[in-house]
Amino acid sequence: MAKYVINGKNRLEGAVTISGAKNAAVAILPAALLVSGKCRVENVPDISDVHILLEILKDIGAEVSWEDNGTVILDCTGVTGTKPDPELVCKMRASYYLMGALLSRFHKAHVALPGGCNFASRPIDQHIKGFRALGARVVETEEYVNMKPGPNGLKGARITLDVVSVGATMNIIMAACLLPGKTVIENAAKEPHIVDLANFLNTMGAHISGAGTDTVKITGVEKLTGGTYAIIPDQIEAGTYIAAVAAAGGNVLVQNVIPKHMDCITSKLEEMGVEFINYDDAIQVISEGQLQPTTVKTRPYPGFPTDMQAQVCVCMSIADGTSRLTESVYETRFFGYCTELASMGADILINGKTAIITGQSNLQGAVVRANDLRAGAALIIAGLAAEGTTEVENIHYIERGYEHLVEKLTALGADIRRVED
Ligand code: UD1
Repeated sequence: MAKYVINGKNRLEGAVTISGAKNAAVAILPAALLVSGKCRVENVPDISDVHILLEILKDIGAEVSWEDNGTVILDCTGVTGTKPDPELVCKMRASYYLMGALLSRFHKAHVALPGGCNFASRPIDQHIKGFRALGARVVETEEYVNMKPGPNGLKGARITLDVVSVGATMNIIMAACLLPGKTVIENAAKEPHIVDLANFLNTMGAHISGAGTDTVKITGVEKLTGGTYAIIPDQIEAGTYIAAVAAAGGNVLVQNVIPKHMDCITSKLEEMGVEFINYDDAIQVISEGQLQPTTVKTRPYPGFPTDMQAQVCVCMSIADGTSRLTESVYETRFFGYCTELASMGADILINGKTAIITGQSNLQGAVVRANDLRAGAALIIAGLAAEGTTEVENIHYIERGYEHLVEKLTALGADIRRVED
């Protein structure tokens, strides 16, 4: 078991380069199953979730190679397996994308239910609703989902999602790509990684329009062929470094970002007193004085992302006054880290969907435990801002989604080490 040991109170200075988006990569790599030919995918983050996915794909017959510069060459032409290894599938959340991709390509799939971060009940009923609307006969058990064509075969359909779901929108896009006819997804999610998946598939020959709006249209094609595609920068990784600078203080150039994707995060931190200068593909973050309290409500994109809830909570914990943080996507998400933050001196009162955070002049180092990916990222930020030494345990969650975290923070002047226990 490894842990991060952080000595806090170092200002962050210099530049950090953001990696490719985790939530785009974990969809685009399985989407390569739809392609007959070689996909060259650039800007792939070197994180454990990506490695697990590539293992799964290799295991069912894909040819996979990594190049040093974050490029993955994937050829799924020879894939025959439609039952990915359940032990690997259970290790991560995004393995649910194998369902849509295998259904589209092979018209059948037998996929174990996904694992990953369990900060809330995370149903996949909207994914299943979509597959059924496309004509699949779906059998669900407590362990797996099995799909094959229903009596009328598989074809495009109109689907209105009951809730705005990132995963369901992307899974249905994949499932519809190679089916005859037109599919329309209403009440679709609009996150940047949905646009990225659609751009990847369109580069390979798919006909998808409207990604990034709440209506996505897919006209099925017979075949996708190979090509080259570069994944967008990670909005949440960038937001995490921005929150780290906000909390620890400093002046950092966050490079390789799409500033438009960051507006929902930077606008809130600006209210807290952080200064931002936007460039074409970089943001200068300056945090010199005392943070001010604010009010944040998480929302699907273009709202404030739930995946930044925990990181902004740390900033609120050291602001000069009382902040309110309301979660509207995953209600139980506070429980993943608030007790840990409280052990560092934070004053957080959870009242249903809202946390009321009374800012403290300082947090104190403590031994804390990461209970999920973003909760873990927040504890690292708390450790950077706190007096004394913080030990963050259970870091396998954090390594699921942050590439070269220790190296990047160390280059900014942080005192952080990865220690094998
Ligand atoms: C994705 C992200 C995750 C992020 C979340 C919300 C990936 C791999 N993960 O997760 O980091 O926190 O989006 O931005 O991209 N829901 C249902 N039924 C469904 C699907 C979802 O009720 O079939 C509900 C969920 O419980 C939740 C809301 O819809 O309340 C949004 O979930 P969704 O957008 O699907 O999240 P994920 O795709 O699992």
